[in-house]
Amino acid sequence: MAVNVSELKEKFAELYGGSKEVKAYFAPGRVNLIGEHTDYNGGHVFPCALTIGTYGIIRPREDRKLRLYSMNFHNMGIVESSLSDLVPSDAAGWTNYPKGIMWTFEKRGYHLDRGADLLFYGDIPAGSGLSSSASLEVLTGLMLRDTFGFDISMVDLALIGQYSENHFNGMNCGIMDQFASAMGRKDCAIFLDTNTLQYEYAPVKLPDAKIVITNSNVKHSLVSSAYNDRRNESESALKALQTVVDIQTLGDLTEQQFEQYKDAVQDPVCRKRAKHAVYENQRTIHAVEALKANDIETFGKLINESHVSLRDDYETSCEETDLLAELAWNVPGVLGSRITGGGFGGCTVSIVKNDSVDRFIQTVGKAYTEKTNITAEFYVVDIGDGAHALD
Ligand code: GLA
Repeated sequence: MAVNVSELKEKFAELYGGSKEVKAYFAPGRVNLIGEHTDYNGGHVFPCALTIGTYGIIRPREDRKLRLYSMNFHNMGIVESSLSDLVPSDAAGWTNYPKGIMWTFEKRGYHLDRGADLLFYGDIPAGSGLSSSASLEVLTGLMLRDTFGFDISMVDLALIGQYSENHFNGMNCGIMDQFASAMGRKDCAIFLDTNTLQYEYAPVKLPDAKIVITNSNVKHSLVSSAYNDRRNESESALKALQTVVDIQTLGDLTEQQFEQYKDAVQDPVCRKRAKHAVYENQRTIHAVEALKANDIETFGKLINESHVSLRDDYETSCEETDLLAELAWNVPGVLGSRITGGGFGGCTVSIVKNDSVDRFIQTVGKAYTEKTNITAEFYVVDIGDGAHALD
């Protein structure tokens, strides 16, 4: 849906009244092209910001009150709270995300002495794994920074978002999603070393192909606990490897080194997790080299290998996304296809030749519904800019 910012402002005035100046902001969702589950293993990622995301309108208040409203959760109405009551709770639902950012601001010494009236609207499909929560976090941070005049860099806003998600919302995520939302650049993917936070923008020039996201429309439960399990398994593997080789993270190892030292990891599950982290990191580095050399075939092949590794070694795929990837691989003109994001449902990302996009959508969509009884959704996406003010 095309979002009309003046309509959001009208809604704001209808809810909160007053004609005083309000400001509008946007923070995008992301799709990761390759480099999955490497961002908490000291590896590289290669995400890009989308043109869908979360919009926010803010007006500061004179007191410490907070009023929060989301057009996506209009059933909850206006949620009233206060800067003195920044505690997570199940009942607070979606408002735990903006509140977590305020809580993190306080923790980092950015003192908020006035509250705000806030309105949000997001056009990222719910449960799709395209980072609606990260976009809401980065958006809230940006709105607070601008409204209350703090000197905080965009990278720090990403780190604040991650901290809040880890410590306020209990999801032990890495930095990728918030970084992509804060730092995205139109028509570029971000080649980010999550160990050092050094990054480089790589233009995604695909004159003959499109990036197509396929939403499986399934989200298996216990996603965040399964995610946190993967983190723990990767950490155990790292500890075991550190007894035989001097490394700080799994991202420090080449494939050859991993093969040389892997027997130090006795638990076969943890060994598989580490294998994925090491190989996926190297695949990401090679994929970026291939893209820079305009070798889209190799780029696509590495994308396929990433899926196989997530399916067999990291086990964050699921039947439905495996099916989507396998169906895609069989369509002529598909250069690569893999599950993207945290996993256990959500979306695949595919690189599809321009003249095959229609056939891809028809063939994959039909076969997917026949096998699962679920309707997949397809988005041919553009790469957009990171979070910014709208006026
Ligand atoms: C989720 C997390 C990210 C990253 C991906 C997997 O999206 O929020 O930090 O770990 O999963 O690559």
